[in-house]
Amino acid sequence: MTSSVPHLFTEIGQLVQPHLSEGDTRTPLTVTPNASLLLADGRVVAAGDADLVGTHPQAAAATTTSLQGRAVVPGLVDSHTHLVFAGERVNEFAMRTRGETYESIAAAGGGIVSSVAALQDCSLEALVAQSERRLSHMQQLGVTTVEIKSGYGLSPDLEAKQLDAIEILASNSPLTVLGTVLAHVVPKTMRSRREEYIEQFCEVVLPDAARREIVRYCDVFVENGAFTPDEATRISNKARELKLEVKLHVDQLHDGSGAALAAELGALSADHLEKTNAEGAKALADAGVVATILPGCGLFLGGDNWPAGRPLRDAGCSVAVATDCNPGSSMVLDLPLCGTLSATQCGLSLEEALWGITRGGAMALGLNDRGTLNPGERADFVVVDSSDWRKLFYTPGATPLFGVGIAGNLIRF
Ligand code: NIG
Ligand code: FE
Repeated sequence: MTSSVPHLFTEIGQLVQPHLSEGDTRTPLTVTPNASLLLADGRVVAAGDADLVGTHPQAAAATTTSLQGRAVVPGLVDSHTHLVFAGERVNEFAMRTRGETYESIAAAGGGIVSSVAALQDCSLEALVAQSERRLSHMQQLGVTTVEIKSGYGLSPDLEAKQLDAIEILASNSPLTVLGTVLAHVVPKTMRSRREEYIEQFCEVVLPDAARREIVRYCDVFVENGAFTPDEATRISNKARELKLEVKLHVDQLHDGSGAALAAELGALSADHLEKTNAEGAKALADAGVVATILPGCGLFLGGDNWPAGRPLRDAGCSVAVATDCNPGSSMVLDLPLCGTLSATQCGLSLEEALWGITRGGAMALGLNDRGTLNPGERADFVVVDSSDWRKLFYTPGATPLFGVGIAGNLIRF
């Protein structure tokens, strides 16, 4: 329950405010020492210098909690996940350590289709239960908003089952859960009838998804063996007619000019971008498409799979960072770890990494009420168990968090 009594968090050692736009600076955020945060009705009333916030008319009546010098950052936004899935693919993970690749495993009948079979065999109840465990793990790591994709169904009924599970998660969790309907691959049984599959996706799967309140986005995997740019254009246009925002998986395994396609289609975000060239990066920047990098894939797949965060930023892109949590290419639930990797492996500064998992994630989801702690925004925040916010990235795998605030309520860990 959200309390209407104002609440004042005092003695914040550092309050981190990401800027609304990332701009061309490597420090797209403001850090205020000795700060306070005033909240009411689940929203931010005032945030910043303690003396200033203390003079706010609502501060006098507020109940107070001292954070004893700890740092506060906005609630983390994971803008790209496939968190609802059945089964696991640990065997494929082992095969890759012996020299197989993501693509050779898929060509031999593994990969995405093994998750489709597992989804088929799993009850809705079991699917929700295992997904809820992952979601609560993410919450323990500071995530307060998460996007979850379908795409392991590959048929109207199974896609609906996955979307049902996402809806149940959304209604059971204090986190904000938003859904995406994903055109992932054409199932083997319909390889010779691609046209028919795409027609069915556009006329049955998309409308079913679009009528669900939590489903706001459509995503297409544009890649050899998945969908072509022309097919992605057709699916995206239909999604737009149904009032869904467009996102694309592009240039993950090959440079297929996917970034240029995302720019041409005016997508909300273009995600992956491991193989995007300089021209593609410039097209994204010019079109104002958020470039979402997913360093969990670099960690999990091995080889040279790191997205080029620095060139994207230098081209003028706003760069979001997300986990891509999925059983095949990124069995990673840890968004702070992805922030660390975006800095150590992809060339972002720690400030840009934090921007990417807060305001950048919110922008990649078209959300303007979160990702910073400005007055009127949702009171979602993370209390770092340190006076230095950079500790969020400094001990990957053992991130020191004191608690997370969701719509104004602090849950202590
Ligand atoms: O984002 N690229 C496509 N989809 C997922 C992987 C899905 C899977 O292997 O199960 C991704 O990497
Ligand atoms: Fe993905």
